[in-house]
Amino acid sequence: MTDNAVLMVDGQTIELPIVEGAEGERSIDITALRAQTGLTSYDPGLVNTSICKSAITYIDGDKGVLRYRGIPVEQFTVQPQPNFVEVVWLLIFGNLPSREELKIFRDMLTSHELLHEDVKDQFQHIPADAPPMAILSATLNHLACVYRKYLVVDDPERLLEVIASLISQVRTIAAFSYRRSKGLPFIYPNPNLRYCANFLHMMFSSPYQQYIISPEVEDALNLIFILHADHEQNCSTTTVRAVGSARANLFASCAAGVSALWGPLHGGANVEVVEMLERIHKGGLSPAQCIRDARDKNNPFRLSGFGHRIYRNFDPRAKILKQACDRVLQITGQRDPLLDIAFELEELALNDDYFIERKLYPNVDFYSGILLRTIGIPTNMFTVCFAIGRLPGWIAHWKEQNEEQGGRIIRPRQVYVGNNLSSYVPMEDR
Ligand code: ACO
Repeated sequence: MTDNAVLMVDGQTIELPIVEGAEGERSIDITALRAQTGLTSYDPGLVNTSICKSAITYIDGDKGVLRYRGIPVEQFTVQPQPNFVEVVWLLIFGNLPSREELKIFRDMLTSHELLHEDVKDQFQHIPADAPPMAILSATLNHLACVYRKYLVVDDPERLLEVIASLISQVRTIAAFSYRRSKGLPFIYPNPNLRYCANFLHMMFSSPYQQYIISPEVEDALNLIFILHADHEQNCSTTTVRAVGSARANLFASCAAGVSALWGPLHGGANVEVVEMLERIHKGGLSPAQCIRDARDKNNPFRLSGFGHRIYRNFDPRAKILKQACDRVLQITGQRDPLLDIAFELEELALNDDYFIERKLYPNVDFYSGILLRTIGIPTNMFTVCFAIGRLPGWIAHWKEQNEEQGGRIIRPRQVYVGNNLSSYVPMEDR
């Protein structure tokens, strides 16, 4: 294996170093390209670009491998299932928490779980039918208004506090936005409940009746959060890094991550999938027609929950969630017709030339919506649940970038294809 790549351009030969990652993946280091040749690299969608070195998550898309800090994600799904809070710590701080670290962090999550009353009052001014992702993004930014002491975090203690506030309050914000949309009274967090149970309590309890949380439902939500916790340089995480690279605070950076996640090509796909399955169920569309529409280049329709920039194989998260849907539905004794439709659609797609040639497999969003439905989460809260799960990943990347020596603002180049020099024409002469 060579240490350098050789590039010949305009009669000039330059050598570009190869950077090698921990798992042997290789990347051409072009940091000196423009200085040496005057050229930039052109890579729409950053398909071939490694924008940073990161030690958080490893993915091998050809083999369907996903690891958090080196640990295969499958290991977080076996019983007794680790708690999401452990995974939060692992991703952000790089090690599995000791018993003491976990206790301290859990206590901090509890002591930071209440929303500032000014933030809570904001919900009264939001239209009841406002999209919860818009509320979440706006409210994360609003936290910057009330926690100004966290806008600059230059010591580890303060950083831990702001992390605990965000991880804890994101649940409270999410639940309050749901309650607002239903015109229901807010339910304050209960310090005696674990992370997922507390979220379910704030969503579904009422002032006169405690919501009974079944262990299966709590476990399923814990699994969903764990499986969404990080996915290296996806669109929303790259957004968080881009905003954070300007030294923007953690609230602003994560609020931007929520906005990116909302898009239907990214986290918003979990809503699209269930809406598509519902249309099929109601008879407005057949699975075969779905596949035909997805194949049709004149039709903008895409089979939501299928395809992935990185995976050219099964998304390991989709495999786990598919099994979990089956298991939870059996335990709860429910029968969800959407699951059968999803199985049929998957079968059709996996045997269709179009999908085979392009290596399009189910991604995390294909089954997550069905599982969320099973545990009673309404459709408009699916992507919000994704955001709660993904928050530790965003924070971990923001922190990693912030601690990097000599980190630079993310500011790519472009190839300009507009008008050449032209003149302003006064209004009367146009
Ligand atoms: N349905 C139909 N065709 C598809 C799909 C799909 N779901 N996904 C990809 N393709 C086709 C593209 O049209 C393209 O075909 P072509 O080569 O004939 O032009 C080819 O497969 C490659 O697709 P790209 O769009 O180049 O792949 P890219 O990596 O840019 O996009 C993405 C990945 C956005 C996930 C895409 O597969 C997609 O739109 N999927 C549906 C939305 C979705 O499920 N998003 C969630 C992704 S997971 C996550 O973000 C949590």
